[in-house]
Amino acid sequence: MKALLCRELGSGTLELAEVDAPRAGAKQVVIDVKAAAVNFPDALMLEGKYQFKPPMPFSPGCELAGVIREVGEGVEGLATGQRVLAVVPHGAFAEQAVADVARVVPIPDGVPYEPAAAFMFTYGTSYHALKDRAQLAAGDTLLVLGAAGGVGLAAVELGRQMGAKVIAAASTDEKLAACRAHAAEATINYAGEDLRERIKALTGGRGVDVVYDPVGGAFTEPAFRSLAWRGRLLVVGFANGEIPKLPLNLALLKGASIVGVFWGDFTRREPEVNRQNMRQLVDWLADGALRPHIAARYPLAQGLQAIADVRDRRAIGKVLVLPGG
Ligand SMILES: NC(=O)c1ccc[n+]([C@@H]2O[C@H](COP(=O)([O-])OP(=O)(O)OC[C@H]3O[C@@H](n4cnc5c(N)ncnc54)[C@H](OP(=O)(O)O)[C@@H]3O)[C@@H](O)[C@H]2O)c1
Repeated sequence: MKALLCRELGSGTLELAEVDAPRAGAKQVVIDVKAAAVNFPDALMLEGKYQFKPPMPFSPGCELAGVIREVGEGVEGLATGQRVLAVVPHGAFAEQAVADVARVVPIPDGVPYEPAAAFMFTYGTSYHALKDRAQLAAGDTLLVLGAAGGVGLAAVELGRQMGAKVIAAASTDEKLAACRAHAAEATINYAGEDLRERIKALTGGRGVDVVYDPVGGAFTEPAFRSLAWRGRLLVVGFANGEIPKLPLNLALLKGASIVGVFWGDFTRREPEVNRQNMRQLVDWLADGALRPHIAARYPLAQGLQAIADVRDRRAIGKVLVLPGG
């Protein structure tokens, strides 16, 4: 089979190579990949800057949708020929990928492969963050930073679905238009507008109940200062590259919480809650309440370009790699 291979970390190159097809181990399936999606950690992994370092050489890509080709020992409830979506540690940018059954979900009838491939990682992260970590309630005001990115746009849609008023913040008007199309009620262009002043104006001075922050850097502190009483700051990621520091007296003054989010570990430590979350998310995907936004599609040979689109801040929503296309 064909796979896109990283042979050297930080080399800035990937090679389209012919490799042995993977085999399914116990409680695993092999999937014919129809579509795979890029996530920010793919870029970090290629540079050797991600917490998990795969054995070399490896194929990048952590989420995909396709058809089960082979079922390993001890697998129940999944069969060859079944349409599924999955999250894998790496290896999605290939014609076939192997996945643990705990991270494989059947695709509902009528949902195409492309949105299914662009779903589990980002919506799984954002739903866990908003529901399990922030206890977002109907009527809350939610501020999403980096709102047109992968996890950001998922948080915008999920916030509205959960009954919150969503304020989307991003760096360009084009990105903010996408956020409005995905049901953001208000927007802030933080490249040109003062974040704190705009939040004050939009909330009548009250502040926001929850900040969803996958960006880090200079926006975290003004966002934290804009929390309402008992507000929650969700620490999701540092796409900006800078891990911010916060004066803790601000937490005291607002009765506020700084809440960490680590979806990968959550799925391992709390598999039953994760299964419930995935059931809810897939139901919403099936009935059209959630609509993953696909910004661009690339053939397997151009997978590096797909990752660069996300790394270089160009993508709105998700970028796909299509092994058959
Ligand atoms: N905690 C978890 O469990 C978890 C799970 C998944 C992802 N993450 C993390 O969440 C972050 C976002 O992931 P993602 O897949 O949504 O990425 P993404 O699609 O690239 O979105 C990130 C957003 O951050 C903003 N940004 C600001 N400065 C940037 C910079 N220097 N480079 C790139 N983007 C920058 C961009 O929006 P603007 O241009 O509008 O500023 C961009 O849309 C990453 O740090 C990732 O590792 C965490």
